[in-house]
Amino acid sequence: MKPKLSDFSEEVVNGLLSIPKKISPKFFYDNEGSQIFDEITKLPEYYLTRAELEILETRRTDIGRVIGADATVVELGSGSGQKGLLLLKGLIRPKELVFVDISIEALRNAVKLVHTYFPHIAVKGICADYTSTDVMGQMDIPGRKGIVFLGSTIGNMEPEEARGFISGCRRLLSDGETLTIGVDLKKDKETLERAYNDSKGVTARFNLNLISRINRELGAGIPGDAFIHKAFYNESRGRIEMHLQSTRTQTFLIAGNEINFEKGETIHTENSYKYSIDEFSGMLKDGGFNRITLWQDSGQRYALFTATI
Ligand code: AVI
Repeated sequence: MKPKLSDFSEEVVNGLLSIPKKISPKFFYDNEGSQIFDEITKLPEYYLTRAELEILETRRTDIGRVIGADATVVELGSGSGQKGLLLLKGLIRPKELVFVDISIEALRNAVKLVHTYFPHIAVKGICADYTSTDVMGQMDIPGRKGIVFLGSTIGNMEPEEARGFISGCRRLLSDGETLTIGVDLKKDKETLERAYNDSKGVTARFNLNLISRINRELGAGIPGDAFIHKAFYNESRGRIEMHLQSTRTQTFLIAGNEINFEKGETIHTENSYKYSIDEFSGMLKDGGFNRITLWQDSGQRYALFTATI
């Protein structure tokens, strides 16, 4: 499932008419964008996915112990189901695995994948916007629950939104239940900037796919050399910022609206916040969680937090 065309058209136009110009990163993930993101996760410079997989491979039994026996595990933004499958291997007598994702195709494949390896475990998919915890409020999940949110997707939320998300999850959980979140950690600027400026230009393609998507879906006719990819670490805000920078002064007609660009002006397309262990633990505590357990990869670049009420 993808957001309706009118949402895309309306949000893009509103974002391009605002100052400074912006487009939400949720629009990266059409079919092309999802495929390019998949390529990003395999890049040598993009350590995040590998680091998280390493933690899931090596610490899943410990994670399973903290989540506890007989739990129904709800994974938000489950994608291919690969990580859910790894986690499942560490769970003690899981009752059910529930995948929540915006893409119906991804859900079908994820459910099939788990069913192939664990035919005796109940697994279901829910097609929904997982950033809204209201969706979970409407789910009837019997017994002990564990919510899982991997991939450092929380980094793409503004800190206030991330706090809202954590408290939203907290409201759905009872005593002894858990929230498990993958988080990319603060580190040296060079490593961070390399991860978002890879040598093969895959991240640039990912960012520029937004322009191709505007051309494909809104017939804008923006030439291929109108924008370039920019990504840098904003140290004071603790975030990687991605922008599309206009290569010249130019004007485009997008869904009937004239949009003007100065040379060098940018469209802000993504923030990817990085947290220290103390900062993120503090956010979980402020959100109402008492006990926090965390695991890191061997390079200490990434952390998986399990917070218990
Ligand atoms: C999905 N998300 C956690 C990625 C990130 O690292 O913020 C998206 C991404 N943007 C550029 N590269 C990857």
